[in-house]
Amino acid sequence: MFNLANRVALVTGSSRGIGKAIAIKLAEAGANVVINDSSGNAEAVSEQLRSNGKQSIACVANVSSSIEVNAMLDRVMETFGRIDILVNNAGIIRDQLLLRMTDEEWDSVLNVNLKGVFFCSRAAIKYMLKQRYGRIISISSIVGLIGNAGQANYCSAKAGILGFTRSIAREVAPKGITVNAIAPGFIVTEMTQHLTEEQKLELITRIPLGYLGAPDDVANAVAFLASDEAAYITGQVLSVDGGMRMA
Ligand SMILES: NC(=O)c1ccc[n+]([C@@H]2O[C@H](COP(=O)([O-])OP(=O)(O)OC[C@H]3O[C@@H](n4cnc5c(N)ncnc54)[C@H](O)[C@@H]3O)[C@@H](O)[C@H]2O)c1
Repeated sequence: MFNLANRVALVTGSSRGIGKAIAIKLAEAGANVVINDSSGNAEAVSEQLRSNGKQSIACVANVSSSIEVNAMLDRVMETFGRIDILVNNAGIIRDQLLLRMTDEEWDSVLNVNLKGVFFCSRAAIKYMLKQRYGRIISISSIVGLIGNAGQANYCSAKAGILGFTRSIAREVAPKGITVNAIAPGFIVTEMTQHLTEEQKLELITRIPLGYLGAPDDVANAVAFLASDEAAYITGQVLSVDGGMRMA
């Protein structure tokens, strides 16, 4: 287990699924964790961490609103006085074949999945630069690397995260801040619940390890990239996909 004692982490979209697993993992490693979500159960997850003796607050904010994101970072600074780890995890899908895709389906996915990463990273880096320390980890996707029919909006956003990650990694490297991305394969969460058993079986035939991933598989990789042990790693994309895509 990595030691994140006294670190302050913000995990966006962490009231369920992969984000919740990341928040719990970082808290177990000793971090104080800010639970964010646009609605729903952020407070419940935060309460769960506090009842286990961890320091945690819940911040309801839509990551696609710069006003709400900036207010969230202000609150993190007022509460903890620093921000060490930002995990850009919030994401949505609005799948549609290109010719049927509406402007709204395109914009909403790009706004949450890519603009949200920009807004949160910009707001956090402002403080990380002063601290001369920071870890930014964004959750991209295997489909941002290989594409997926019916997900032009989602794949564009997830591929955009990779260009963003490499650019910002170069910008802030001299200031002690690392910026990396994780590209999960297919992970069992509410986001993948719509897959039929037939689709899951077909996917599994394409995964060398032979099974779908769990939220903890992604959370373990995040804990590593957030740790001091990963200090010499920046601008990278770590695949957590059971070997589905081998570069
Ligand atoms: N599940 C998978 O197979 C898989 C694979 C690759 C990448 N991912 C990515 O991992 C991340 C987490 O996915 P998941 O499977 O846990 O999905 P999920 O739908 O279970 O959770 C997403 C969370 O983000 C929150 N969220 C949505 N819009 C938001 C907004 N505007 N502001 C703040 N929070 C918002 C949701 O409320 C939810 O809590 C996403 O970025 C997703 O694209 C998932």
